[in-house]
Amino acid sequence: MKLLLPIILALLIAGCSDSKPKRKYDAKALLQSKCESCHNLDMPPKTYPDEKAPPMMAVTFHVRDFMKVENPSEKRQRFIDFVVDYALDPSADKSFCDKKSLEDYGLMPSQKGKVTPEELEAIAAYMYDHYDPEKFMKLMQEQARLAALPPYKRVLEQKNCLSCHSIDKDKLAPSFKHIAQRYGSDRSGEIMKSIKNGSRGKWKNFKLLMPPFKDLDDKEVKAVTEWILKQGEKQ
Ligand code: HEC
Ligand code: HEC
Repeated sequence: MKLLLPIILALLIAGCSDSKPKRKYDAKALLQSKCESCHNLDMPPKTYPDEKAPPMMAVTFHVRDFMKVENPSEKRQRFIDFVVDYALDPSADKSFCDKKSLEDYGLMPSQKGKVTPEELEAIAAYMYDHYDPEKFMKLMQEQARLAALPPYKRVLEQKNCLSCHSIDKDKLAPSFKHIAQRYGSDRSGEIMKSIKNGSRGKWKNFKLLMPPFKDLDDKEVKAVTEWILKQGEKQ
């Protein structure tokens, strides 16, 4: 068993690289330029009161669930065929949307002339692979895990602070202990400012600069600053 596993893996990897078709299109960019004006593309999706169309994740999950296929291995191709056909030639008969949603949104206008069948094929394949129910589950679990962490820990993880800093050894960046000892809690405002706006040239021995983390909110910056200051008290 121990011997077999590497062989199987090697075969799998070789198989992949051999059979992988060359991607002609950047499907994600196509989806954004051709479909995002009406369909929200986020996962999990954002919905709006006056949205023009259901979010793409909802569309994909819905079509996936309601499409009947005898053989599960045909599902992906059938999905692609459906989306290509629907986008060029939509009709209430073909739609998997319930009546009420069809009335609310109105039928999707044909995208003929705005997108080619080949581009649509790439878009549909991307939709099928990207809006994957299992991937979605994992994403939600990961979000729940991050949400349950203490704020300072979430910041450290999400922003990879520890890829440059360590707690008590100077690496690519000054250690958090070192930083805490230099400023102390009286000057916590300076620390917070540097985290938000980035920092360069304040630490002579470090050539790197620290990027700004502007998207952190004040609570998060405060939490991670308090945590940094605590590292200075440790022996
Ligand atoms: C002008 C707005 C608009 C654009 C652009 C648009 N859609 Fe739609 N789409 C809609 C609306 C509205 C619906 C819901 C009503 C319906 O199903 O026809 C919809 C529904 C769909 C459905 C679901 C059909 C069903 O049976 O449930 C698919 C698949 C779809 N769109 C694919 C696409 C793709 C792929 C693109 C980009 C190439 C795209 N749409 C661009 C408005 C749009
Ligand atoms: C790409 C590497 C990198 C990452 C990622 C990084 N830092 Fe830094 N950090 C640095 C460097 C380099 C310095 C020293 C900059 C200087 O000389 O002014 C620094 C300095 C600091 C300082 C001291 C600033 C000052 O005013 O003296 C604090 C506080 C800090 N980092 C916190 C963080 C926090 C919190 C995170 C994660 C949200 C983080 N850093 C992520 C590289 C990084």
